[in-house]
Amino acid sequence: MTNNNPIGLFDSGIGGTSIWKEINELLPNENTIYLADSKNAPYGQKSKDEIIALSIKNTEFLLNMNCKIIVVACNTATTNAIKELRAKYDVPFIGIEPAIKPAALKSETHTIGILATKGTLSSDLFHQTAEKFHETKIIEQIGFGLVPLIENGDINSKEMNDLLKTYLNPMIEANIDYLVLGCSHYPYLIPQIKKILPKNIKIIDSGEAVARQTKNILQEKNKLKLDDKLGEVIFYTNSNPKVLQSILNGNYTILQKKF
Ligand code: SIN
Repeated sequence: MTNNNPIGLFDSGIGGTSIWKEINELLPNENTIYLADSKNAPYGQKSKDEIIALSIKNTEFLLNMNCKIIVVACNTATTNAIKELRAKYDVPFIGIEPAIKPAALKSETHTIGILATKGTLSSDLFHQTAEKFHETKIIEQIGFGLVPLIENGDINSKEMNDLLKTYLNPMIEANIDYLVLGCSHYPYLIPQIKKILPKNIKIIDSGEAVARQTKNILQEKNKLKLDDKLGEVIFYTNSNPKVLQSILNGNYTILQKKF
């Protein structure tokens, strides 16, 4: 394994590109491979066993591409499968957990909201994190239907706006001052969410923290790429690449492949 080997990322679809963007901004010289398992999206409604099986399949794809580290750019896969992945493979794994900690520590109303998938909110990892901040009231909401709309490119649709209002209005009424986005797809909804939330409610996602953690682990293991040439970036999808293309908003290599 050399320092030039790529950083691998996978997600149930295109949402984890919000994490990839943060990593690419912090570590522009690193080679990266992103795997969008859009064919199997959403993961949030699947059983733990199914999520583990899909996460293993994605990991093996990235390991076959010689990835030196794997970023599980999906909250549902992190909370349900990262323990099993770490036990099975030697490569380091970075996961994304909902940013409960910074929101709970900063909240002045001691009430925060979290929007995430069923798989994330029902996971042991989420319950353990929430338990650590039991003085903070956490209003949990499953984002039913949001991921399929994002995967279809229907981010600005009326249906999306109606769903978001249904999910966010009870949180506003409960006096939250922080909203945690607990799914890597949801940062793409920030413009719509901002139109619904009053200005005093701040939105937190985990992208920057994941990028910093990826850098720290590579540094610790002496695995950062050493030259200053811009990294090569490849996206793989097992579905129609059109929405991925539009969400990336740039000229990137997207390869459609069966996996
Ligand atoms: C999903 O596939 O349901 C969303 C993935 C996530 O939790 O980030």
